[in-house]
Amino acid sequence: MCGIVGYIGYRDAYPIIIKGLHRLEYRGYDSAGIALFDKQLKVFKKAGKVVDLENFVKDVELGGSIGMGHTRWATHGAPSDRNSHPHSSGDRKLTIIHNGIIENYGIIKETLINKGHVFKSDTDTEVLIHLVEDIQEETGLDLREAVRVALNKVIGAYAIVIMSADEPDLLIAARKGSPMVIGVGKGEYFIASDATPIVEYTKNVIYLNDNEIAFVRREDLLIKNIDNTVQTPYIHELDLKLEMLEKGGYDHFMLKEIYEQPRSIRDCMRGRIYPQEGKVQLGGIKEYTEKLKNIDRIIIVACGTSWHAGLVGEYLIEEYARVPVEVEYASEFRYRNPIITEKDLVIAISQSGETADTMAAIELAKEKGATIFGICNVVGASIPRTTHAGVYTHAGPEIGVASTKAFTAQVTVLTLMAFYIAQQRGAITQSKLVELLTGLNEIPELVEKALKSDDHIKKIAAKFKDSTNCLFLGRGSSFPVALEGALKLKEISYIHAEGYPAAEMKHGPIALIDADMPVVFIATKDSSYEKVVSNIQEVKARSGHVIAIVTEGDTEVKGMADYVIEIPASGEAFVPLLATIPLQLLAYHIAVMRDCNVDQPRNLAKSVTVE
Ligand code: G6P
Repeated sequence: MCGIVGYIGYRDAYPIIIKGLHRLEYRGYDSAGIALFDKQLKVFKKAGKVVDLENFVKDVELGGSIGMGHTRWATHGAPSDRNSHPHSSGDRKLTIIHNGIIENYGIIKETLINKGHVFKSDTDTEVLIHLVEDIQEETGLDLREAVRVALNKVIGAYAIVIMSADEPDLLIAARKGSPMVIGVGKGEYFIASDATPIVEYTKNVIYLNDNEIAFVRREDLLIKNIDNTVQTPYIHELDLKLEMLEKGGYDHFMLKEIYEQPRSIRDCMRGRIYPQEGKVQLGGIKEYTEKLKNIDRIIIVACGTSWHAGLVGEYLIEEYARVPVEVEYASEFRYRNPIITEKDLVIAISQSGETADTMAAIELAKEKGATIFGICNVVGASIPRTTHAGVYTHAGPEIGVASTKAFTAQVTVLTLMAFYIAQQRGAITQSKLVELLTGLNEIPELVEKALKSDDHIKKIAAKFKDSTNCLFLGRGSSFPVALEGALKLKEISYIHAEGYPAAEMKHGPIALIDADMPVVFIATKDSSYEKVVSNIQEVKARSGHVIAIVTEGDTEVKGMADYVIEIPASGEAFVPLLATIPLQLLAYHIAVMRDCNVDQPRNLAKSVTVE
């Protein structure tokens, strides 16, 4: 959802900015641009990926130790050279990069056009920089003040950086609703949408808050609130290692992240479970233990893959903690008038911690008095800073746009939460908890085992790579797994795929089944096994091709499915964590065989900071 990078210091700015843009490319990749001050203000921009921008400027001398760059995910205006960022003022002395949306840009643009401003792009961003220019012309205010006044006039979300030809030792950065991190070096500062472009230069970062403006020069940094009060920033230390941001020998980040799951699930549980004692410890929500005893209901809000994790959470929490759970798309929840009381607990799930709809849902629930927990992966992101309490997933940076290890880490945290709430509310016996935690503790090893089917899955992928449609069916907590399997396939291979509760197939999707339709069943040995077996027969009777995820040693489904993929036996509660693995690999291999850009699928972005 657009990535922004800025640098001011003593090093060459260009390589730092380009490298940073590559790191942030997961946020958007339809066009890219840079601005540098090298004796004069220079701006270069191009539709396409960051590499296209690099080729575009390869013969240009790009010096200077101050600059900024942008990688775009189009909102207003199609991807094109002229809609790429940076955007400049009429006199070309000011230039801006922006992540977010200026909602009232239309009315401001109209006023500015009437005053003689001429716009070169279709973007909302260009309006903002013309507004700053206009304020300066009309009032004679200096740039810092003009930016502050302009930001008071706009409605919407933004993380921006502004450069001026007249003040070549200044970057002005501001945020409202879109993320922004400032790296603090010695005689240098870095600005970025997240910490990944910064980590190799400094571990000291400031997370800019909403409505803050930073005036960044080589030797000093001044942060003010939009109402002009000076702020004292808090410097955090990053817990991020450079190797986490590299492919580490894998062909794609997605494959690396699939293979990281034994580790990421283990990291997620570390220090949180004590199987022999039958104890779950969640430091992030400890203070709310009393509250958990008295809640009436849990509402889970999330988007995309995180919403699927929420659905798994619903099964687990209702089963073990016996609290009613509702799972809502954040985007729908916020535009109803939901009934929320102080006795509700809202759990917001978000890998990035920045999703705009999830943020807005949190604000709404907060206004209505609910307690809000977050389950996030990116430390220090907006959502974990907005919620009352929460639990990080600790999956490490997820770079592939299709979420994999973040999903299994979210499901792991929800499993822990279900057990924790059950424990606090006395809904579970100690011996059952010992049994469950012992089972959970083995999951990283079993995931490792599930990954061993990779070659077999690759062969199955080869058979179905040219399919145009695919159905994914499961029951109980395997239904969200089916949804997630379908989402993975459609996101990265562009094959139309639907996830359905297996029994619902008879109410519509069965009409689609013919000899060209692959149907993926999650048919593990659990409480709905027999029913799923019947559903498989219904598909076979209509000539559908069945690929079944089965429990190791299964013979019944093996006898009727065209292909089976075994996963290790586990307690029923943990099937989602294991059954997801082959579906991720299936989608991955099919996408690779179709020559798709696995890590950066078309039209998608990893972090959706617009509504
Ligand atoms: C985008 C990403 C998905 C992700 C969803 C929610 O659509 O491409 O992978 O599941 O946003 O993101 P969040 O960061 O809130 O989990």
